[in-house]
Amino acid sequence: MLLITMLTLGYLAGGMREQEMREIKLHGVTKLGLKNIIDFIYTSKVNLDMVNLQETLEAANFLQVMPVLSFCNQLLSSEITIDNCGEVERIATDLLLKDLQLNIGEFVRQNLSALVECGRYLQLSETSMANALAKNSLQGFSELELYHIAKGWLEYDYPNRRSSVYGLMRHIRFPLMSPSELIQISQDDEEGAESMMRSDTACVNLLLEASNYQMMPFMQPALQTERTQIRSDDTHILALGGVMRQQLVVSRELRLYDEKSGIWRALKPMEVPRYQHGVALLGGFLFIVGGQSTYDTKGKTAIDTAYRYDPRFDKWLQIASLNEKRTFFHLSALKGKLFAVGGRNTSGEIDTVECYNLRKNEWTFVTNMVEPHYGHAGTVHGNLMYISGGITRDTFQKELWCYDPAADKWSRRSDMMELRGLHCMCTAGERLYVMGGNHFRGSSDYDDVLGCEFYSPDTDQWSVVAPMPRGQSDVGVTVFEGQIYVVWGYSWNSRCMVDIVQRYDPEKDVWERVFNVLEPLGGIRACTMTVHLPEGSVDEAQIQECPLPTDKS
Ligand SMILES: *[C@@H]1O[C@H](CO)[C@@H](O)[C@H](O)[C@H]1NC(C)=O
Ligand SMILES: *[C@@H]1O[C@H](CO)[C@@H](O)[C@H](O)[C@H]1NC(C)=O
Repeated sequence: MLLITMLTLGYLAGGMREQEMREIKLHGVTKLGLKNIIDFIYTSKVNLDMVNLQETLEAANFLQVMPVLSFCNQLLSSEITIDNCGEVERIATDLLLKDLQLNIGEFVRQNLSALVECGRYLQLSETSMANALAKNSLQGFSELELYHIAKGWLEYDYPNRRSSVYGLMRHIRFPLMSPSELIQISQDDEEGAESMMRSDTACVNLLLEASNYQMMPFMQPALQTERTQIRSDDTHILALGGVMRQQLVVSRELRLYDEKSGIWRALKPMEVPRYQHGVALLGGFLFIVGGQSTYDTKGKTAIDTAYRYDPRFDKWLQIASLNEKRTFFHLSALKGKLFAVGGRNTSGEIDTVECYNLRKNEWTFVTNMVEPHYGHAGTVHGNLMYISGGITRDTFQKELWCYDPAADKWSRRSDMMELRGLHCMCTAGERLYVMGGNHFRGSSDYDDVLGCEFYSPDTDQWSVVAPMPRGQSDVGVTVFEGQIYVVWGYSWNSRCMVDIVQRYDPEKDVWERVFNVLEPLGGIRACTMTVHLPEGSVDEAQIQECPLPTDKS
């Protein structure tokens, strides 16, 4: 304890008025620490080393001298090692140094395997262990390995750590383990001297949750918890399917664009080739529905099959087929269900709408569209699905329709400014953008629509934005890091499938051609998804020069 006159502390006492208080008492502050702080106040310099650091920190913390605190924070953060991280963590916790705690958390995540190897992880606090185990970016371990790390930490001092079992185990992603791994865990737990999981109801529930998840594969997108998330924070643009320009071969590829290295990488290909299909994300799964497996422009080969991609395991699963074959249609995920809207088949345009129920793995019809449509586009905003444009009885439309799944009703909203079909639509913030597509020029010939516009649901109004530099119809569209990417497709003005990706920045209202892609593909689809980044690049030998004319407009 130290007595100190107000005079020297005038700077520190801030709000207190001198005449009211002549003396204050400082608890938990040492001479050395205080001397360092006072030196700092007079000289703006502070002498720090690992020896006086803790005392200085305590004094700085007590007196809330922010520049010294943040400097100590930085120094300690830069000095974290495998050997001292337990000690640094203790200082951070004692002094409530939030930044330092975060940095230790990050250090533990990045160096967990070294910490485990030398046993230093056993000295870490429950908070650090839990924070590391909770991270999506914790890579290089199987969930079973993480379970054993948690178990090792708990067993190291079981009498004192017994109460932390659920606190750690709740971060192990048991649903992502294989059934045999789960059985192994249950058996070990029964045979072990201490039954860690079984002695805690909450932990037993973790194992039950995992076995439920595995027993109901079709329900998985609806059973998402923090434990079913993919252990990755690699979020990328994915492109799937499409028809190649040269050979008119339909692609099975599922690819992602790795922006860091600027290359396309291959994920597990689809089981069947697809183009003009519907894609939607639900519960961290990617669904692809309908479309065509062979090239024809009239939708004669429309199909009804549907698949689901699980990025956690890079695996496909076939789900229930649509009741009707459809291509050139729209698919949205809305309120935990999928909606397949309109399209066409061999006999012509379709007005039916089907809804996929995960619980039953079944498609059922809901209220039809007022008119049949194909080549329309759609998006979701605030629990409603919006469908724009498309082709009805061989005529391009500018209508906007809104579907409310709760009421199972369609209602009409303000028309777009342009007629368009085979365009794309997406939601960015409170704006529903429509871009590209084509329509008739005169009475017979097709023309790219370069104009772009957005709809504001609040005001039921359309506004024009910057036009696309190059026409793209029958494309994939996705929003990635706040920017809208329009990928591949067909240009009517150039009469060929295009090999470009154009990007729109909604804040700046500018378009940019961002990169060229492999072979030109039409009827391709895109989405943005978190996956495990695969190794290797897609063979670029296949890139073919597309003799597109230079920019018009
Ligand atoms: C911790 O991990 C990071 C990232 O892998 C690495 O750069 C760093 O050298 C590691 N630190 C120690 C002390 O091993
Ligand atoms: C095409 O769609 C129409 C309208 O939904 C339907 O009546 C017809 O059976 C479908 N034809 C084929 C071959 O599936």
